[in-house]
Amino acid sequence: MGSYKFIANILIPIFVLLLSLNCMMACNCKEQLSTTFYDNTCPKALTTIKRSINAAVSRNPRNAALLVRLLFHDCFVQGCDASLLLDGAGSEKQSRANNGVLGYELIDDAKAAVERVCPGVVSCADILAVAARDASVAVRGPSWLVRLGRRDSTISNAAEAATDLPRGNFNLSQLISSFDREGLNAREMVALSGSHTIGQARCVTFRPRIYDNSSNIDAAFRSSLEANCPPTAPHGDGNLQPLDLMTPNRFDNNYFRNLVSSRGLLTSDQALYNGDSTDSIVTEYVNNPSTFDSDFAAAMVKMSEISPLTGTNGIIRTLCTTAS
Ligand code: HEM
Ligand SMILES: *[C@@H]1O[C@H](CO)[C@@H](O)[C@H](O)[C@H]1NC(C)=O
Ligand SMILES: *[C@@H]1O[C@H](CO)[C@@H](O)[C@H](O)[C@H]1NC(C)=O
Repeated sequence: MGSYKFIANILIPIFVLLLSLNCMMACNCKEQLSTTFYDNTCPKALTTIKRSINAAVSRNPRNAALLVRLLFHDCFVQGCDASLLLDGAGSEKQSRANNGVLGYELIDDAKAAVERVCPGVVSCADILAVAARDASVAVRGPSWLVRLGRRDSTISNAAEAATDLPRGNFNLSQLISSFDREGLNAREMVALSGSHTIGQARCVTFRPRIYDNSSNIDAAFRSSLEANCPPTAPHGDGNLQPLDLMTPNRFDNNYFRNLVSSRGLLTSDQALYNGDSTDSIVTEYVNNPSTFDSDFAAAMVKMSEISPLTGTNGIIRTLCTTAS
């Protein structure tokens, strides 16, 4: 047998067999995601989702923030499997860590629109990932390609949400280790925090920062916040404040400009620029908005591919709120 035939008939089949065994045994599931996943089974999936998300953001620009945050809170807990969307006692949704999370019905609407064009095909987990991208674009943020093929979990667990999600009072080392657990480095953590360039936070989440005398916080900014957030809970707990006081409805790099002028809203925001190791990244994003945009897009792709369910794992839910 010539060496060409040996390679073609023996080595290549063995190689393919080993490769597929390897995939079955130790599924590196993100390798199974692809941008063309629904091209044959639901060619209208992406345009249908985009139409639904654009309508939601034109109704209310804050909806863009809600959608970007939903993907984060889903992916950090049990991976990007839409576990966040499940209703029921003891679900992630009911965890304290998800208390202020809103916008679930926006995903339900997008899912209903997709079910009308191709029932039972497109997962809630994929819709979450596409919706976050479309939301970014709708408020003039960066775009990126979303690889598809995630499937939906049938379980979710409130306790896991409490452990896995970072909190607004975290210091820098807590933030870095919380993202490190999900395979995201400090630079990706800073870039992703840049999504606080849109959206709002409740007084209950920023009160500790404004009434702590040792906070690194601009004096005038502090007084304006105090006016809208009385010192003692539960008074004013739900009062809203934009996370980016300059341009709360536009995706830009003003979030980082605020940090440099000590006008970060949350303790975890100001921690990124407080005389520590991430200061230089913040400065870079202030001076170079296009670097922020491209780092943000790349980090969103990475975050949206944390431990997906693929192949025969998980299911395609009919309603995102229900495990069937
Ligand atoms: C770095 C660690 C992070 C912490 C500690 C944190 C914490 C918070 C807190 C406390 C709020 C206010 C929520 C409320 O009032 O209920 C908030 C809002 C928000 N977060 Fe984060 N976050 C972090 C990272 C992220 C990431 C990675 C994303 C997305 C990629 C994100 C997207 C958002 C958005 C868009 C809002 C505004 C939501 C709205 O308008 O309701 N956050 N975050
Ligand atoms: C951050 O917070 C943790 C938990 O409260 C604490 O153990 C740690 O010392 C803090 N780190 C810094 C650098 O302040
Ligand atoms: C912070 O400073 C104010 C005004 O000086 C003072 O009344 C208050 O007791 C201080 N709070 C703490 C926790 O030290």
